[in-house]
Amino acid sequence: MAPRVLVTAALPYANGSIHLGHMLEFVQTDVYVRARKLAGDDVIFMWADDTHGTPIQLRAMREGISPEALIERAYQEHVEVFDDFAIGYDIFHSTHSPENRKHAEHIFNTMDAKGDISSRSVAQFYCPVDTMFLPDRFVKGTCPKCDAADQYGDNCESCGTTYEPTELKTPYCAVCHDKGTHTVPEVRDSEHLFVPLDRHKEFLLGWLGEEGATSGTAIQASVRNYLLNWVEDLKDWDISREAPYFGFEIPGHPGKFFYVWFDAPIGYIAATDKWCADNGKDFDAYWKTDRSQAEIVHVIGKDIVYFHALFWPAMLHAAGYTTPSRIQVHGWLTVNGEKMSKSRGTFILARTYLEHLPPEYLRYYFAAKLSSSQDDFNLDLEDFVARVNADLVNKAANLASRCTKFLTGKLDGAVAEIPEDARAMLEEAEAKLAKVPGLYREFESASALRVAMEIAEAANVYLTEQEPWKLVKSDPERARAILSVGIHASKLVAAVLSPVIPSWGEKLQRIFQLDAPVNFENAKDRLPAGHVLGTYEALAERIDAKVIETIMEASKEDLQATSAASQHDYEVPGLADEIKIDAFLPMDLRVGEVLTAEAVEGSDKLLKFTVNLGPLGTRTIFSGIKPSYGEDASLVGRHVVVLANLKPRKMRFGVSEGMILASGAADDDCTLLELDVERSKPGERIT
Ligand code: 2FM
Ligand code: ZN
Repeated sequence: MAPRVLVTAALPYANGSIHLGHMLEFVQTDVYVRARKLAGDDVIFMWADDTHGTPIQLRAMREGISPEALIERAYQEHVEVFDDFAIGYDIFHSTHSPENRKHAEHIFNTMDAKGDISSRSVAQFYCPVDTMFLPDRFVKGTCPKCDAADQYGDNCESCGTTYEPTELKTPYCAVCHDKGTHTVPEVRDSEHLFVPLDRHKEFLLGWLGEEGATSGTAIQASVRNYLLNWVEDLKDWDISREAPYFGFEIPGHPGKFFYVWFDAPIGYIAATDKWCADNGKDFDAYWKTDRSQAEIVHVIGKDIVYFHALFWPAMLHAAGYTTPSRIQVHGWLTVNGEKMSKSRGTFILARTYLEHLPPEYLRYYFAAKLSSSQDDFNLDLEDFVARVNADLVNKAANLASRCTKFLTGKLDGAVAEIPEDARAMLEEAEAKLAKVPGLYREFESASALRVAMEIAEAANVYLTEQEPWKLVKSDPERARAILSVGIHASKLVAAVLSPVIPSWGEKLQRIFQLDAPVNFENAKDRLPAGHVLGTYEALAERIDAKVIETIMEASKEDLQATSAASQHDYEVPGLADEIKIDAFLPMDLRVGEVLTAEAVEGSDKLLKFTVNLGPLGTRTIFSGIKPSYGEDASLVGRHVVVLANLKPRKMRFGVSEGMILASGAADDDCTLLELDVERSKPGERIT
C-alpha cells in the first residue's frame, strides 16, 4: 500500500505579519503537496501558528492585550493571507491548543520515564523588585563584544553576537526599566530540565544515514554533512523556562514552562491529531507507525535545521512517534539581491503584494526558480515582471488564447484530429510531461516548469511556421487541424502549471469544455474531432512594470503605519475589541500632581510637564496638548492620570517618561482626565 504522506511548512510565529520570505516556503510546500496530490498520492498538508514564548508575551504586554488575544488576531490574519495566496493546506492549527498540550505532556512524561530528562541548577538573573527570574529578553545591558548600550540578553542588535544574559556588561532588569526604575538583577540558581541528547547519538547517526542510502532519511547532502559534525558534539538541551512565560506548564514542575522550541514542532502532531478527529481518520496510522507506512516531510529554512534534524527526531524516537522521512531545506529570500529592507521598501508583506497583484504571478516566479538546493533565492523585482510576461503571458497564455479565439471566431470552435506533421512534437511533449510528477516530488519545480515552457514554445513555433490564419479561407480543415495542436499542447502545459497555478487548470477546463480538471494523466487524452470549445477567458495578463514601484512605496508606508499605530494605540475610533481584565492590568495608571507645565521652544504642540508621582518620584512628560491648553498656569497643582509604565520615549526635546491621559479626537480639542485634588494622592494606583 502506498504510504500516507504528511507534509509540513515551518510554523509561523504568531507575533507578526506574513511577508514574502514566509511565502517562499509556503509556496514551495504547497506546490509539492498539490503536485503529489495530482499524482494520486495520499497527502495531508498540516501546520499551525507558533504561539508561545517570550517575544509573543512581550508584544502582548506592549500592546496591552492578553497573549491569547494577540495570537487569535494573528491566526485570523494569517489564515486570510494563506487562503488569498491559494495555499492548499488541509489544516492550519495552533500550538496553543488542547491537542498540543496533550502531546507535549505525553512526550515529556514518556521521555522522563525513560530517563531522557535530567535536571540541574542553572545560574540565571533574578529581579528582586519584580520577584521573578528574568528570561533572556527581560534583561538588558551593554553588549560584551561591541559595547552597544541597551541590548537584550540573548543577542546584540548592533553587532549580531549571541551570548548568555549573564555575559552582559552592566545588566539591568528591563521590566523595572519600563516602570522607570533601574534594578541590577541578582544571579540566582534555578532548576532547569534538559534532554541529554548524546543518549541518542547512535539513533541520530542511523536516522541521518549515509549519503545516497536508500533506507535513510532524505536530506540534502550539504545539510547532512554539517548535521554529522553536530552529532559529534551533542549538548544537553534546556527545555524549561521560568514563569512568567506564555506556554504550557511542565507537568510535575510548577512554575516551569516548556521552552517554545520544545512544543513548537509538536504542533505538527497536534495539527494532525485535530485533522484526524475532524475527518474520522486514524491518528496512529500517521504518528505511531513505521516510516514505510507514513512518510513525514518537513519543509524548513536553513536557520532551523538544528531543531528539526537533531532535537526533533531524537524527541520523536525517545517518545515512540514516527520519525521524519525527509527534511527539505531552502535558503533565504533576498529581494533585488539584498536582505529584505524596510527602508528600501523591499520588506514586502504578503498582504501588500496581494493588494497590487494576483497571487498566481508570484507563485509562478517562486516555483520557476526553486530547486531542491538550499541556495538563497533572489526575488529580482524587474526580472519577476519580465519572467511572468515572457513565460505566462507570451508563451503559455498566448498559445491557448490565439488558438481558442481563432477556432471559436472563425471555425465554429470545433477541434480536429492532430495532423501527422505534429505528432512527433506532441509525443515528445507527452514524454516530457511524464517526467514532471517526479520532478515536483524531488522539489525540482524549476525543471518541471521548464517543461511547460518548452512545450508551449515548440507549439508556438509550429503555429508560426504553419500560419493557420492564412489558410482559413483556402483550407479551413488544415487550419483547424493546426490550431488543434495548440489546443492539445495547452492542455499539457496546464497540467504542468496546475500545482503552481491551480486556477489555470480550472479556467482551461471551462474554456475547453473538459469533463474534469486537467491532471498529469488526462492531459494526454486527445479531444475527439468535433469537440466544441467554450469561450476564452484570460489566463494571464501583462504586468505593468510600474506596479513594482507602487508595491515598494506601499511597503514603506506599511512600516510607518505600524510604528505610528504602536505609538497611538489609544486613538482608536469606535469601540475597540472586547478585552478581559488581565489585558488592562499591565497598564500602571497613577495619580500625578502637575508641578510644572511649560511651553517647549520650537514646538507648537508640546507642553513639558513635571509630574509628582509620590513614592515613584517625579517624571518629565511631554504631552501634545498645547493647542488645547496653551501655557495655562492653572494646570499646576491639578491631579491628572499618568500611564506610568509606558516605555520612556526619546523625543527631539528630551525623554518623555510616561503619558498623561486626555480625551478628545484632536490635539486642539482635548480635555485632561483629572481627579479630585482633595480625595486623591500623588502616586496612588488607578484601577
Ligand atoms: O523559525 C520560526 O519561524 C519558527 N516559528 C518555526 C517553528 S517550526 C516548528 F518547529 F514548529
Ligand atoms: Zn525588575
